This record gives sequence, C-alpha cells and structure tokens, in this order.
Amino acid sequence: MTIPENNVNSSPHLPFGDQRSAPWYGKSIISVKQFGKADLKYIFEVAHEMREMVGRVGTFDLLKGKILTNLFYEPSTRTASSFTAAMERLGGSVIPINEVKYSSVAKGESLPDTIRSLECYSDVIVLRHPEVGASKLAAQYAQKPIINAGDGIGEHPTQALLDLFTIIAERGKVDGITVTMLGDLKNGRTVHSLSRLLSLYDVKLNFVSPEILKLPKEIITELEDQGILYQEHTLLEKVIPETDVLYVTRVQKERFEDPDEYEKVKGTYIITQQTLAEAKEDMVLMHPLPRVGEISMDLDDDPRAAYFRQMEYGMYVRMALLAMVLGKA
Ligand code: NCD
Repeated sequence: MTIPENNVNSSPHLPFGDQRSAPWYGKSIISVKQFGKADLKYIFEVAHEMREMVGRVGTFDLLKGKILTNLFYEPSTRTASSFTAAMERLGGSVIPINEVKYSSVAKGESLPDTIRSLECYSDVIVLRHPEVGASKLAAQYAQKPIINAGDGIGEHPTQALLDLFTIIAERGKVDGITVTMLGDLKNGRTVHSLSRLLSLYDVKLNFVSPEILKLPKEIITELEDQGILYQEHTLLEKVIPETDVLYVTRVQKERFEDPDEYEKVKGTYIITQQTLAEAKEDMVLMHPLPRVGEISMDLDDDPRAAYFRQMEYGMYVRMALLAMVLGKA
C-alpha cells in the first residue's frame, strides 16, 4: 500500500497528527529517569510505525518546515548522523554544528548564550557536551526542546531508548532476561542510561568490568532501591552462559586523567568466537559503537551480532522522539 504524501497526517492507522496537547510536545529529553513503562511502550509503537513508513515510502513530510540544530561539543558519527537522517526522513532540515571550534564557542561564548542563539533559528536542539548536566543547564535557558545526546559521563538517553528497542526487536521481550554489561561501566554514559531503563523491568543485570571501571555507586544504589537483582564481576567467563543480552562498551580513553591507567585496562575484554562458543545460541551481542577492538570483526556475520541492526533501529527511535517533542505524534 502506498500512502499519498498529503494523507500522512490523517491516516487512521498511524499515531501521527497534530497533537500539541500531547504529553511530550515541547519537552526536553535530558535523562531516562523521565520515562515510565507507558512512555516506553508509546515511543516504541511510534518508532515501529516510523520503521514501517521508512520501508514503504522512505521519506515523508511529517516535520516539513521544522529545523533541528545538532550542536556537538564532542565527536560523534552515529548520534549526529542518525538525528540528521531522522529529521530529513521526516521532511525537516538540520543545522549541523559538529565542530564547535569553528563556531563562537571558540570565542568563549557560554552554553546558555549559544543555546539562546541557536533556538532563534531552530525548533529543537540536539546537544552533546563533555560536562555532566550540560543538557539540563541548556534546557533551563531554552524555550525550545533540548535533546541530550550525551553529557560527559552522565547520560545518553536516546541511545538507551534505541538499545531497549533493539532488545525488544531482537528478543521479543525484556521481562525475565539476563543482561550483562561489559567494559567501562564507570565512564560509559550509555550503560548509565540503559541500566536505569532496564531497572523498570523484571531483569537480572550483570556488571563486568575492571576494578577501577565499576558502575558508579549512585547508580548501584538506584538499582538497589528498585529491587533489581544484580551482580558485579571482573571475569566475563562466570556469567556468559546465562547471558541473554551482552552489551559491550569501549574503554573511554578520553575520560582518563592518567594515560597509563588507560593502557593498563584498555584490552581487558575482547569478544571472540571462543567467547561466543560459551554463550547461548540466541544471545544478542550489542555495542553502542564505536568499537576499538572489544569485539573481533570475525563475529560480524554471526547472527547474534546485533550492533549494526542496533544502529538502524536508532534512526527509527530518533524519528519517534523528534515527532513527539515537535507535537506530531
Ligand atoms: C557512545 C557515546 O558517545 O557515549 N557512542 C554513541 O553515541 N553511539 C559510546 C562511546 O563513545 O563509546
């Protein structure tokens, strides 16, 4: 079935339409703590519809005339380009500021001033910044929605949403599964957001890391308050056989003050065919990417390797979020 372009907003089958009274219209997305299970169900329904629509028509005009600013103070491949792709597939356009050194930030402009300037030209701002709390601060000054695309070692909520969408797409459910997170759990903002989101479900969590890269105490306390079953380990071998989802992360070199410390831990875990031989046949292997050697390229063709599919799901989830905060879902 093809949907005529001018009929997208009135299709009775789609959760699209002009809904400025909808709960997410005009809201910033700063932390996964903003989401309850009902929100997640809704976001994933919309993301699913986005996936169908992209399959059917590729690009459609839900956000025609809307402008997104991608304001990135740290490097990005997937997050920046998937927000661009999401906006353009919805008929909107993008102001890309990927290299703040060429913007007035290099002249010493403050974050609030940069945000108040860019929102004059755009309807939504996607912000990545090296400081924890930067998106929260930006949202205090902005009239338009801010979407946190990573605030230092804080959170990366849209990544966690796409990670959870991936788990559901690959496993069919979240309740009852065991998720093992591996690598730099101290500095990995994707792990911080994803473990918080998973704690809304009936899951068992394993955290495997070198001693110096353990999950921050603050997050452990939150999980304990939620009554989540979890274990901390330094060896992956102990938990690989029971694992349903293995979420591998990069050791975050840029967060280390002492380069020698990084050198000591950088190659601690490498997932190879030998590792997967101990794993379940239907385990899902995920990674937010970029990988810098933690997963051997030999595994890319293993059906369990979901990291490239995970990236694609990210675009649908970001399409859903943009439609929501701009009042079209
Ligand atoms: C992650 C990030 O920036 O936190 N990348 C991403 O957005 N997909 C993970 C990382 O950099 O290791």
